[in-house]
Amino acid sequence: MMRLDKFLVETHKATRSEAKQMAKKGLITLNGETVRKTDIKIDENTDIIAVNQEVINYKQFEYYMLNKPSGVVSATRDNIDKTVIDLISSPNKDLFPVGRLDKDTEGLLLITDDGNLAHELLSPKKHVDKKYYAKIEGIVTEETVNAFEKGVTIDGDYITKPAKLEIINSSDISEVLVTIREGKFHQIKKMFLSQNMKVLYLKRLSMKNLILDSNLKSGCYRELTKEEIIDLKN
Ligand code: URA
Repeated sequence: MMRLDKFLVETHKATRSEAKQMAKKGLITLNGETVRKTDIKIDENTDIIAVNQEVINYKQFEYYMLNKPSGVVSATRDNIDKTVIDLISSPNKDLFPVGRLDKDTEGLLLITDDGNLAHELLSPKKHVDKKYYAKIEGIVTEETVNAFEKGVTIDGDYITKPAKLEIINSSDISEVLVTIREGKFHQIKKMFLSQNMKVLYLKRLSMKNLILDSNLKSGCYRELTKEEIIDLKN
């Protein structure tokens, strides 16, 4: 048995105060009946709790933020290379990386066993922003900014969706920030190649509202906070 508000916090549906507001609005049901208070006791194993008519499963998922180093692959298993899952100490067998970063790309990678959340974040229809820092061989100009905004051709005939390019500094080796909303294979490298420029270094800084923790050293990871999980799901 546990309190309803604790159940909603632990299943990452709401903070305690949000849960209270949701109950006041009549959005929460217990075995089909609307409940207006969240300090009541429920049985997390047998009661059916729904928020906005979505039944909440009590299974506890795991969520980690990894600062991926270069040289490891974004897979669960690999015969040759070390994988991102190998960096997690005693990983549960269902953990997987949400999306892929190239072997030589660094930075934010979400690792979880929550398939629904992964699907939400990766679905092309959801247009989740992914922001990268990159070092580029070549002088990046407004022309490239405009080309990325309009869309460039990669893979022969695919026109990329509007992407945001911000120039930090531009010289023989330029530094930029790029935000894309899709995730084609080698997308950013191919986008620069289409402009005759080469990506020398690439690091993901954020995905949706999840920002890489600047205290996280390369190759290290930490659990997401409850707030980060709730924000990612919203
Ligand atoms: N774009 C790339 O080219 N590589 C990555 O790893 C991510 C985005």
